[in-house]
Amino acid sequence: MAQLSGSSDVPQMGRRQFMNFLTFGTVTGVALGALYPVVRYFIPPSAGGAGEGITAKDALGKDVKASELLAEHTPGDRVLTQGLKGDPTYTVITEDEQIASYGLNAVCTHLGCVVPWDGGKNKFICPCHGSQYDTTGKVVRGPAPKSLALVNAETTEEDKILYTPWEETDFRTGEAPWWA
Ligand code: FES
Repeated sequence: MAQLSGSSDVPQMGRRQFMNFLTFGTVTGVALGALYPVVRYFIPPSAGGAGEGITAKDALGKDVKASELLAEHTPGDRVLTQGLKGDPTYTVITEDEQIASYGLNAVCTHLGCVVPWDGGKNKFICPCHGSQYDTTGKVVRGPAPKSLALVNAETTEEDKILYTPWEETDFRTGEAPWWA
């Protein structure tokens, strides 16, 4: 009898656990369902989306004016701005005094120091461990393992510089972009 009663308890307990699970699952599902719009509200619609862009900003967070940038700098300069995701990003001024169609993420691919442009030596030299990058941000001396990441740069009709993610082939290496 005891054996019979014991065996009949097993499905009872199993059912109870199952019901508990169902109840918990339902409550959790309802709670998550109710929370979703709240959580979604706090996520900007443009966050991280491919193809999204941002205008280049100065150190104070104001939009950079392309015409002023060109007037204040010499051909061949690399000018630090705030770019995508707030990353320090160089606007490249070409030898014929235009904004280049690409910008360079200034974060060193070794350990993340911001790499300054050395106009005298015509290259980027990282102060942390000595990595060097050429005028296009291509790594020419380690320990940095990769070239600086590229972004697209476009001068808008409103005299701003629009950065968008670079998802095309890396023109310096002919390879797929490592940062995409
Ligand atoms: Fe740039 Fe190490 S962080 S060389």
